[in-house]
Amino acid sequence: MNQQQNLPKLGFLYLDYVLRFFDKSNFKGWPDKIETVVYHWGNDKERFIAEVKRKKIDVLIGNIPATAYETFKEIAAALPQVRFIPSIETQFANKSKENVTLFCRKYALSAPRTHIFYDKDEGDAFLQTAKYPKIVKRSYGPSNYGGYYVHKVDSYQEAKTLFAKKKYTPMYIQDAIDLKDSGDIRVMLIGHKPVCAFWRYSGQGEWITNTSQGGSMDYGNVPMSALELAVKASKAAKAEYWACDIAIDAKTNEPYILECATAFAAFPYIRDWIGQYIMWDLSDGYFRMPHVPLFSWEELGKMDSSFLRTLRHIYFSNYTPSVDGAYWLKEKETFDMELTEASHPDDVPEPIAPPASEDELPGVVKDQQDTPSEIDEAVETFDFKNVTLTQLMTLYGMDEAIAVKIKELIDNDEVDYFDALENSGVISEAQKKQWKRFFR
Ligand SMILES: Nc1ncnc2c1ncn2[C@@H]1O[C@H](COP(=O)(O)OP(=O)(O)O)[C@@H](O)[C@H]1O
Ligand SMILES: [Mg+2]
Repeated sequence: MNQQQNLPKLGFLYLDYVLRFFDKSNFKGWPDKIETVVYHWGNDKERFIAEVKRKKIDVLIGNIPATAYETFKEIAAALPQVRFIPSIETQFANKSKENVTLFCRKYALSAPRTHIFYDKDEGDAFLQTAKYPKIVKRSYGPSNYGGYYVHKVDSYQEAKTLFAKKKYTPMYIQDAIDLKDSGDIRVMLIGHKPVCAFWRYSGQGEWITNTSQGGSMDYGNVPMSALELAVKASKAAKAEYWACDIAIDAKTNEPYILECATAFAAFPYIRDWIGQYIMWDLSDGYFRMPHVPLFSWEELGKMDSSFLRTLRHIYFSNYTPSVDGAYWLKEKETFDMELTEASHPDDVPEPIAPPASEDELPGVVKDQQDTPSEIDEAVETFDFKNVTLTQLMTLYGMDEAIAVKIKELIDNDEVDYFDALENSGVISEAQKKQWKRFFR
């Protein structure tokens, strides 16, 4: 087929020890072989670039973890003819909460008022006169540690004690939003169109909305204002796929972005839609754009999540009413799925402090045999038998479903040391390698 001869050569961008968001099965129907290029931690830049060139890859698909962001900026610069999906600029917000804040500022996206200090004295001076409560977060690293590095402080004393203990740099201090219904909203978008959204509520006695700590979720009643803000962020990021966590202020109903990124946990059927969308983009319309009706998540969300996890390749057709011509029933869509604009180096905000290179980051292991750990605190180990869900969620690449499963196995006395997970079928070899060192 003529069209197929013009298809670009695709490659998946993988990194050792990092969970793989996409695989071939998400790109069902793509006629050509999809290459794989794996980045091995620690000075692998030149080899990686050479491999991409040797395999003649035109498009590299996949998320880059926070730790490798600076390295991949250089890799992308050395491969100007290769399109990264999502682009390096689009992935700016993945790197840290500070970057999320800078991104929201640059594009005037509603977000909680945030102060960031690299200078401890300046930060302390601010805290002395600040209005409380405040939210303090560790800025660096991938998002979604399940609130492990997110703290609420009610006074200067509490803030001071917290920073003395945690030594977070930069000091990332944010106004606390009075969360409507003690919840926040996750919106996932493909081609700037919301394809899934749900409320996440906090558990009893918790202020953090964390479904792994007794919280719950609900696919109903997601307000338009949250969807609109998420779309605006997705367009600003020029994101092929995107997720936003949004808080709604209980008093004003105003939406605020808490987090946004291209890296997020998504059921396989959503990753299939992303694959379809990318195939549509790259094939000049030869592949069909996935049609995902707005609010279809309300219907899908009625299914049990264990069920949703196994659904694949969901296909909606456009609604064409078979009427006698007397009238046309046209589905009115508020948001359209669109192609993204090409990213440009100027899209990303100016950094506050010069970025650290991969080697300088705390906890990054230079020995290739060892596993990377992008965070210093996480090198603290957990007692396997008494590990909490929150602690499990801090492991890099941990998925909520896996954390819950591991916790169940421990609680049911089915496993009592980390290596025993190997035979449980719950974690992969790569995950085992990555997480083993965090347990005793
Ligand atoms: N500014 C804020 N005001 C109120 N609640 C917040 C604020 N920031 C975070 N939270 C709560 O803490 C949770 C975790 O914060 P988040 O920034 O998403 O960090 P994580 O990386 O741990 O997911 C949010 O889902 C929300 O419930
Ligand atoms: Mg979060």
